[in-house]
Amino acid sequence: MKEKLEQIKAEAIAQIQASDIPEKLNDVRVKFLGKKGELTAVLKGMKDVAPEDRPKVGQLVNETRAAIEVVLEESRTKMEKFLREEKLKAEVIDVTLPSKKSMVGHRHPNTIALEEVERIFVGMGYEVVEGPEVEYDLYNFEKLNIPADHPAKDEQDTFYVSKDIVLRTQTSPVQARVMEQGKLPIRMIAPGRVFRSDEVDATHSPSFHQIEGLVIDKNISFADLKGTLEVFAKELFGPDTKTKFRPHHFPFTEPSAEVDVSCFKCGAKGCRFCKGSGWIEILGCGMVHPHVLEMCGIDPEEYSGFAFGVGLERIALLKYEIDDMRLLYENDIRFLKQF
Ligand code: DAH
Repeated sequence: MKEKLEQIKAEAIAQIQASDIPEKLNDVRVKFLGKKGELTAVLKGMKDVAPEDRPKVGQLVNETRAAIEVVLEESRTKMEKFLREEKLKAEVIDVTLPSKKSMVGHRHPNTIALEEVERIFVGMGYEVVEGPEVEYDLYNFEKLNIPADHPAKDEQDTFYVSKDIVLRTQTSPVQARVMEQGKLPIRMIAPGRVFRSDEVDATHSPSFHQIEGLVIDKNISFADLKGTLEVFAKELFGPDTKTKFRPHHFPFTEPSAEVDVSCFKCGAKGCRFCKGSGWIEILGCGMVHPHVLEMCGIDPEEYSGFAFGVGLERIALLKYEIDDMRLLYENDIRFLKQF
């Protein structure tokens, strides 16, 4: 019996030493120490051992089991340590390798131009406000002196959400919303997205941006409007920029004008950029129509004001000499990075 147990022990240790992964160690444990294992079989054979020898044999079996367990445990610890070290070696981080470049985006020319315009007007004491892109027909047209049958409505034919709700065609409705709040005086600009059912081409898009401006106070005159926009043009396009006010018509201003700036590319001599005229149109403006003031709860006898509307894309295209508006909407980082 003793030899038999020695033999089991030797065989178990040999197999343990031949194991290279923890799974194999487990197989050895099952084979020798498990319920159906070889040592258990010896215990089961105890009935054939003389009763007086049984305690002795039992002790020998337990010693053999303990000896095998010790070797098993040592091997497992060693094996795990080895595997952990191998894993660490494989996962070693080379801190001298160049790091992966993280791609940083770039501010959009529209954003750069808008921030520039905001900087100029905030510097003159204006507030920046926002209005809804989905607007009531009432604010987009009616309160701006554009009744249902007005031809200006045709020109700005738009996306209707329902009979009374439109995607705003201009930022001008923000004028009416701010005036209605009744806090006077007003000095604000309102940038935002507008929508028109325009075909896409180099200068048109069904969705673009405008910046609205509005000043209401006592004794505001056309001279204030001219002075303000002159400062704006000089700040935006350079100190030598001249402005020209051409009479125009907008339903919500009277008188109204369109403003041209002297071509900053050729110094008003005439070039390809200004189509030979020396001038570039940049915005619409005028004195707020008394009827609009009245509709928005302001007494035109006491207060007056001016308004203007600038196309943001137009400013960005001019300022950065981009010749196709569609480039602004493609969001190609190689294009955006240039500004
Ligand atoms: N809303 C006008 C448009 O989209 C632009 C405009 C013209 C705005 C004159 C104004 C203004 O505030 O006074 O064509």
